Amino acid sequence: MRHVTESQQFTRQLLQRLFQDADRMHEALGSSSGRRELTKLHENEVLFTIFYEPSTRTRLSFETAGSRLGMKIVSTESAAQFSSAIKGETLEDTFRVLCALGPDVIALRHKETGAAARAISVSSVPVINAGDGTGQHPTQALLDLYTIQREKGKVDGLTIAIGGDLAHGRTARSLAYLLGKFTGVSVVFISPSVCRIGDDIKAYLDRHGVRFSETEDLFPAASECDVLYWTRVQKERMSAELYEAIADRYVINADTAGKMRDDMIIMHPLPRVHEISVEVDTDPRAAYFRQVANGLVIRMALLHWILSEGA
Ligand code: CP
Repeated sequence: MRHVTESQQFTRQLLQRLFQDADRMHEALGSSSGRRELTKLHENEVLFTIFYEPSTRTRLSFETAGSRLGMKIVSTESAAQFSSAIKGETLEDTFRVLCALGPDVIALRHKETGAAARAISVSSVPVINAGDGTGQHPTQALLDLYTIQREKGKVDGLTIAIGGDLAHGRTARSLAYLLGKFTGVSVVFISPSVCRIGDDIKAYLDRHGVRFSETEDLFPAASECDVLYWTRVQKERMSAELYEAIADRYVINADTAGKMRDDMIIMHPLPRVHEISVEVDTDPRAAYFRQVANGLVIRMALLHWILSEGA
């Protein structure tokens, strides 16, 4: 069974396959005949999306991806309030119940780190981790990496600056793990000292021979990198005092963007609060809304891979 729990599980061979399939899905979505063919791929299969934490992109992206592949979608958002979790049902029991209903794949978002692994421990159906607390968000990392590949033509050899709240942001963690699969990559982590990237990530990069450094300063890292991957301060995962202290520490605006290379790209998993000014959105280097579109096709490719076991 093909569960998706963490970025480390993806091999370069599998990443290449997913990227090629995503390219094909992108092409097919461009014509009505292509869209018709896509809906035949998994027309008798059912996707459950169960989200205990808020989401705009990930849930709607999964549901659109499933719909484009012809799947039936059964969904619960705000599951922390509107599922029987509110009555005290455990995640394990919830998953036993979901599996008894016979879906073909379940996408889960949860506020607790390790929730996806708990669900998988009892699940008879493939589970996709759609974000678990401060743990990981592997499908965001897939779309981030796919975006880098599409925009820069490669990942090997690039200098990638990852910045913001790196202690609580799961997307930065998952992307860093995926970058450990590539050769000649340099990573610069930019964050306030209270929000540094975890030691587990640094140990992993060390083991995989990825050069990395840490800094509190936006420059010179931002002016030297090929990719600036910026993230939001995770207000919901820290005290009000800490948030006030760091919320405005870094803002990417037209002035800071003007000091960056012409051939670099600016990425963000979104949602953005104010850490990238709206004035940057029209800069051709701003790739964050293109990331969302890439997320649709990479999730289509991922669902297709999960549902085509043995292929
Ligand atoms: N990037 C991301 O996970 O966005 P949502 O929280 O809106 O799903």
